[in-house]
Parts: sequence; structure tokens; C-alpha cells
Amino acid sequence: MISLDQKIEQAASKILNARHAIAFTGAGISLESGIPTFRGSKDGLWSKYDPDDIEISHFMSNPAKSWRTIKACFVDFMKDNNVQPNMAHKVLADLEKRGLLKTIITQNIDNLHQAAGSKNVIEFHGTSKTATCQKCHAQYLTSEVDYSAEVPSCKKCGGLIKPDFVFFGEGIPSEAMDRSQAETEKADVCIMVGTSAVVMPAGMIPIAIHNSGGTVIEVNPTPSAVTDRYTDIFIPLGAVEAFTRLAEAIDRLPR
Ligand code: APR
Repeated sequence: MISLDQKIEQAASKILNARHAIAFTGAGISLESGIPTFRGSKDGLWSKYDPDDIEISHFMSNPAKSWRTIKACFVDFMKDNNVQPNMAHKVLADLEKRGLLKTIITQNIDNLHQAAGSKNVIEFHGTSKTATCQKCHAQYLTSEVDYSAEVPSCKKCGGLIKPDFVFFGEGIPSEAMDRSQAETEKADVCIMVGTSAVVMPAGMIPIAIHNSGGTVIEVNPTPSAVTDRYTDIFIPLGAVEAFTRLAEAIDRLPR
């Protein structure tokens, strides 16, 4: 058994010596910025709200119920909490600046990687920054949408407005899918952070990298769906502590 310090050293060395390191992130990386995860036992969004509300056919047939959940989980929350990137987002942005990280594939829709300064971010599940009319396809910044009605409608045609994040039952945006596939094929190191890895096809990314001989470094206080079979270096810490220690370890190593 190797110690946690040794695992962090090993992970730092893998990152420093990688040919093409990428990060794959989920809700857990933003928890310490104040954004709840989906599947946490007591504070997870899906323990308080019905995930069917963001299933696409449910949304189209019962938009009022869906919009109540969308407003509570994704609109009011981001607006009221003035969320900021944390140390884990910042270390990933810094690794990209130093040429040590090529890309972040994120399942998150909170824009915190970009706010921390990361440039090459693939939003696998879309974004909460914009919303689109389902009838005339006019696109709006979510900050411009009028939320006073039960169901927000298009200012141009009165059609139903849907946020541009991926609902259950929808496909992954094709550009995000293509870019992620290309990055996954190139990656020899995957830093996976704060995801349960149960939602597909996103959960296939670390599996594919491990199966093609790459190293999966996982940061998560509790094991995910892939830890036992596909994670090579498991760091059982919250994202902020893990990345603070990883950054220190990278700086200690000779380049
Ligand atoms: N640091 C890192 N990870 C953490 C922390 C922390 N401080 N706290 C909790 N976690 C971990 C949890 O242990 C869990 O494995 O974050 C993970 C969050 O898992 P989910 O809530 O399932 O989030 P995610 O994997 O991003 O969900 C995938 O599901 O509903 C959809 O579309 C939504 O993109 C989302 C997808």
C-alpha cells in the first residue's frame, strides 16, 4: 500500500511527463464553490428535485413543472450565490497555461473553468449561459430571459424557451462529442475530478483512456463507478485540498 503523499507525488510526476494530459470534470469540482452535486446523499439536487423534470419529452409536454425545477436548480441558484471558481479550477487553468494540460472535458454547465481562465474547455453537457427558442431557434443569454412568467417564452415568436444544457434523452452536442473523442484518443493521462461517472456517454471517457494504456488519476472523496476497475491513481480528497497538494508536488519536481 502506498501512502497518500506518495500517490500525490506519482500523480504529479505523471502530469509533468504526460504527452497529452486532459481533465474530465463533474459536479464535485464545483461543490466547494457552493454548487450542489446531483447525487450527493442528502444535499444532491436529485434528492430534492425530480430528474425527470429535465428529461426532454417531459419538458416538452409539461414545461411549467420543468421550469420550476430549472429555475430553482440552475437559474436562481447561480444568480443568488455569486459563485466563484475555487483552487481546483484555478490549478487546472494554471496547468493549461504552463502547457501541462491540453483540454478540459467538463460535464458542468456552471462556466467556472472558463471563469478561472481555462481556454480549451469542452462543455460535454452544454451550457447554462444561453437558452434557445424551440420554435424559431432564436438564442438568448440566460441573463436576458424574462423569468417572470411560469414558462419563459420567446420575445420574437412566443415559442417555448429551453436552456442550452443537455437534458436527459437528448444527444451530446455534435461538436463537443467530436472534439471529446479526438481528445480521448490522444490522451495518455486523464485527471478525473468530482464525477460519479454514471452518466453515459461521458462516463466512457476515463474507461477508454485506461483501456488504451493511459493513466487515470481520480480525485474524489468517495469512489466512483469507475474507481475499482479503471482508476490507476485514486486520490481520496476533496478537489480543493487535492489540487492544492498536487500543485505543490508538481512545483517540487524537477522539470
Ligand atoms: N471534491 C471532489 N469531488 C467531490 C467532492 C469534492 N469536494 N464532493 C463530492 N464529490 C464527488 C462525489 O463523491 C460524486 O462522485 O462528486 C461526484 C458528483 O457526482 P454527481 O452528482 O453524479 O455529478 P456528475 O458526475 O457531474 O453528474 C453527471 O449527471 O444529472 C446529470 O447532467 C448532469 O452533468 C451531470 C451528470
